[in-house]
Amino acid sequence: MAYHWIKIFDSKDEVENHIQLHTFIPFQLKGEKINVIKTDKGLFAFNDKCPHNGASLSKGFCTKNNEVVCPLHRYSFDLANGRATSGGAFALKTYPIEIKDNGVFVGIKASWWEL
Ligand code: FES
Repeated sequence: MAYHWIKIFDSKDEVENHIQLHTFIPFQLKGEKINVIKTDKGLFAFNDKCPHNGASLSKGFCTKNNEVVCPLHRYSFDLANGRATSGGAFALKTYPIEIKDNGVFVGIKASWWEL
């Protein structure tokens, strides 16, 4: 799978020292609204649109179990893999994150016509 790797932070130190836990950080990347969140399990990126009925997940909240909870019907999704942990068989779109010496990057799948 080919990805566009887009830098979102300049360094690992920036994430460790300046990003608050459990705070949604919104980005508009390649036309997709993506939230990044730091938890005690790491850094995660997910699409803002709830797969159930399209609510903005940035208006929801994060649980101690590393889930994001939708504000509309309270379905929850595992931040690590997007699987629904309550509410039904929905899958939230998630994105890989890579931490490198020159920054922190989110991977967005390249479309077949971009390859
Ligand atoms: S729109 Fe998110 S749970 Fe229904």
